[in-house]
Amino acid sequence: MNMTPREIVAYLDNYVIGQNAAKKTIALALRTRYRRMQLDETLQNEIMPKNILMIGSTGVGKTEISRRLAKMMSVPFIKVEASKYTEVGFVGRDVESMIRDLVVNSISIVKAEQEESNRDKIDNYVLNKIVEKLLPPLPESASESKKDDYQTLLAAMEKRVESGEMDDKIITLDLAKLNIEFDDSGLPPEMAKVQESFSKVFASINKEDNTKEVTVKDAKSLLRQEASQKLLDSASVNAEALRRAENGGIIFLDEIDKIALSEKSAGRNDPSKEGVQRDLLPIVEGSSVSTKYGTINTDHILFIAAGAFHVSKPSDLIPELQGRFPLRVELESLTEETLYQILTQTQNSLLKQYIALLGVEGMTLTFEDEAIRAIAKLAHRANENTEDIGARRLHTVLENILEEISYDADEYKAKEFVVTKDLVHEKLDEVVEDDDLSRYIL
Ligand SMILES: Nc1ncnc2c1ncn2[C@@H]1O[C@H](COP(=O)(O)OP(=O)(O)OP(=O)(O)O)[C@@H](O)[C@H]1O
Ligand SMILES: [Mg+2]
Repeated sequence: MNMTPREIVAYLDNYVIGQNAAKKTIALALRTRYRRMQLDETLQNEIMPKNILMIGSTGVGKTEISRRLAKMMSVPFIKVEASKYTEVGFVGRDVESMIRDLVVNSISIVKAEQEESNRDKIDNYVLNKIVEKLLPPLPESASESKKDDYQTLLAAMEKRVESGEMDDKIITLDLAKLNIEFDDSGLPPEMAKVQESFSKVFASINKEDNTKEVTVKDAKSLLRQEASQKLLDSASVNAEALRRAENGGIIFLDEIDKIALSEKSAGRNDPSKEGVQRDLLPIVEGSSVSTKYGTINTDHILFIAAGAFHVSKPSDLIPELQGRFPLRVELESLTEETLYQILTQTQNSLLKQYIALLGVEGMTLTFEDEAIRAIAKLAHRANENTEDIGARRLHTVLENILEEISYDADEYKAKEFVVTKDLVHEKLDEVVEDDDLSRYIL
């Protein structure tokens, strides 16, 4: 992870239009962590991350930015919804579980890396096991010439397995050593430990008769897991994963406004919201959390919180929590021009999606530039006249325009369909101009 801020912003530009302030702040925060890691340890410990609060109304790209970051980065990263957590003592997920989720994410990154660097070993392990089943070894007493023949056969068989030629053949596998992994990320560590010992017990009970008939193809992936459990040193994987989560981990805390207590709605709010905020304090500030992989210190984990703050305001969060998010960035609401660019310049834009989907039916869908302009204009107007739901408006608008064509797509096999400005107006003018109608339809 040594991209410069400029490179990070350039990457995000492929997916998110505008919102430069937010992109820059985040890119800089990421780079700062990289810089910190280059320093000597005493100084490293002094430099605390500056957590970020992103504020922007709905549908302007908050979650999209985080989603793209997650894909781009090889640092431990999770995105969680603040509204999912409950105060300690109440039924539900406690906030510490987000740290455990981060560690699990980190483990999978480190594991994948180690599997990659041990690829040859793992490949060999898998291949040998499978070939052994398909071509039982010769007895010791076999003659020299037989042994030579066997070697030739063996080499040929290895080739056939590797090429996938044998994928449909059935073999019997003995999978006794495979630990069954439970999804226990939601459990507190004490419970997770109990469950771990359970799964060990079960594994040992199953030892004798865990033979399975599987295709060679399935065997390849099953044996791959077994190989990675046998060949990788899980203690060092865990240690490295903890270290990375501690120093490079990022938690994106979405929907943080949903746990703020606004004065307007104070009466109806459930009291545990404030409890969740209080529970968050030590974690954001830095504390130790025990996980089943070891204890992790949260001092240097970067938190990026985001929220629309329609009903509540950042100042409705308890002051201690506000103070722990010193960097504030506001996301702009989307203009007509931005909407146009979202349609035309993002890498997997909605237009490309529709074109690809209808392409499956053999239909060539194209959009006149003027039509795209009109779509942006009408979407923007609908946002102004009714609720501003940002770029999500484009979904409803496009769906309206294309629904019929999409339904009749089979009639356009091998034909072209051009979305023109006139078509857009024909489908939408009436709806957009009539507030009541657009409230229901768009
Ligand atoms: N600036 C933008 N550039 C490109 N696409 C965008 C932009 N803003 C929003 N979108 C698109 O709109 C949709 C909704 O955006 P997103 O999920 O980021 O909203 P949000 O800001 O998190 O809203 P909410 O507060 O409701 O969670 C996504 O499909 C996203 O791709
Ligand atoms: Mg969101």
